[in-house]
Amino acid sequence: MCGIVGYIGKQETTKILLDGLKELEYRGYDSAGIAVLKKDKIDVFKALGKLINLEEKVKTSASNDYELGIGHTRWATHGKPTELNAHPHLGEYSYVVHNGIIENYKELKEELSSKGHKFVSQTDTEVIVHLFENFYNQLNDTKKAFQNTISRLEGAFSILLITKADPTKIFFFKHGSPLIVAQGNEKEEVLFSSSDAPLIGLASSVVYLEDGVGGIASANEIEFFNDNYSWSSLPTSKQFAQKDGYRFFMEKEIYEQSTVVSDCMIGRLKDNEILFDEIESSIIDGINEIKICACGTSYHAGLTASYLFERLSKVKCNVEIASEFRYKDPLLTKDTLFIVISQSGETADTLEALKMAKKAGLKTLVVCNVDNSSMTRTADATILTRAGIEKGVASTKAFSTQTVVLWMLALYFAKAKNVISDEVLQKELHTLREVPKSLCISDKIHEKMKRLSKRYLHGHGFFFIGRDVFFPLALEGALKLKEISYLHAEGYPAGEMKHGPIALADPELFTIALMPQNLLYDKIKSNVEELSARDSTICAISPLDFELADDFVKINKTDHYMLEFFEMLIVLQLFSMEISIRLGNDVDMPRNLAKSVTVE
Ligand code: G6P
Repeated sequence: MCGIVGYIGKQETTKILLDGLKELEYRGYDSAGIAVLKKDKIDVFKALGKLINLEEKVKTSASNDYELGIGHTRWATHGKPTELNAHPHLGEYSYVVHNGIIENYKELKEELSSKGHKFVSQTDTEVIVHLFENFYNQLNDTKKAFQNTISRLEGAFSILLITKADPTKIFFFKHGSPLIVAQGNEKEEVLFSSSDAPLIGLASSVVYLEDGVGGIASANEIEFFNDNYSWSSLPTSKQFAQKDGYRFFMEKEIYEQSTVVSDCMIGRLKDNEILFDEIESSIIDGINEIKICACGTSYHAGLTASYLFERLSKVKCNVEIASEFRYKDPLLTKDTLFIVISQSGETADTLEALKMAKKAGLKTLVVCNVDNSSMTRTADATILTRAGIEKGVASTKAFSTQTVVLWMLALYFAKAKNVISDEVLQKELHTLREVPKSLCISDKIHEKMKRLSKRYLHGHGFFFIGRDVFFPLALEGALKLKEISYLHAEGYPAGEMKHGPIALADPELFTIALMPQNLLYDKIKSNVEELSARDSTICAISPLDFELADDFVKINKTDHYMLEFFEMLIVLQLFSMEISIRLGNDVDMPRNLAKSVTVE
């Protein structure tokens, strides 16, 4: 998703901007650009594709004494990924970068066109800079022109704007999409970014802007338009994820799962109970229902959790895809605990769902990987997943930590409501302690998935099938494969195949069957037999040998279905990754996808 950086200061502006954009690269983008200003001359560089293309252009024609600049990585929403549509966008004498969507851009474009403004791109963003110049031409006052511009915009917009009319300043505003202002470590230095990664090491004092807050920055002053802001400190430790010898961030993150899941349990998994310092057990008082809202992989963690909340905490639980929830006029009652799940904490649909629930007076809780994100700042309570920065666009360790947090939460509620026997609780706690072991990857299993992958590079589709919590796991396995291999895959409840999809069965239909020993084994076995009888090619994942399988991945025998769940998760993640590698795809930055989708 789009990323923003900005800089005023004496260091090499182009380098700071490009380094910053590199830190945002993992979010996904299809073009990038910077606008840099010296005296009252603005140079602009834009390039399609990877940042290296932009770097080349900057290297050949930029000078090195710019006083300030703004930069952007774009993930196309309005208008194709072209150089013309890349930010920064130009008026006559000003440039703007923008994250979000201007919903009323068509009306504004018509209005401004009728006044003689010429538009060159297909984007919504371009109206911002023309609107600004329209006001400035009338008022001859940059601050008023910027404020008037903001007041005309509808939708989500985080903006940086520079102009020859006031060449020592960066105008900024945040509404909807995240934006941070930072005081640089050097004298007379101001930085901007849409997330904190580019700022680490360059600044220690930052304002995470709230919606509706903007201002004007120059080398020695940051003026805010209102008082709704506060300075906080930025962690100084560079947690920049490096690949550590792995071929891809995704691979590194798959391997990290055992460790991050342990981190996520530290201090929470006690001898006889679960403890969350960050919430009160009274959060479950008076609650008759849990509603979970999320997108993508986080939705799959939510769906997994819904089985656990009903089974363990004995509380009704339903799960909704956030983009569906938002527009269905949902009935929200105050006896519902509203839980959103998000790796980034910035996904627009999930954030809006959270705001709706809050407005309706529900208790809200976010399970999130990024502190200080929009969701953690909005929800009543937060549980952090502690997975560390996840760079691969295809989410892996976020999912395992989310699932573990939600499973612990189910037990926490079960204890608080007194609906779980000591015996069952002890068994669950013991099993949780075993999870990091289940997530350890042996060379043998990785080799097996490497070898197996070569047989699954074609075909007319994949069905991943499972029952109970293995159904959301099947959904997640299919999503991983789709995301990075671009092969068609679906996750399906195994028992539902006979109600339609089985019509597709033939040797070119690949069925990935999740067959745990500890949960509904006989049921899933007969579902797979039905598919085998129709000659579908079956790859079974199970601790128990299954003779009808064309391919068989044996996982360890355990005594709990959740351990089988995590062992299978590893198998599915490696399976997709190895197929993607064989197909020569970009594993970490798959086409058309963004890490954090901050538009609806
Ligand atoms: C994007 C990512 C997915 C992710 C989803 C939800 O689509 O590509 O990997 O699962 O957003 O993101 P969140 O940050 O809210 O978990």
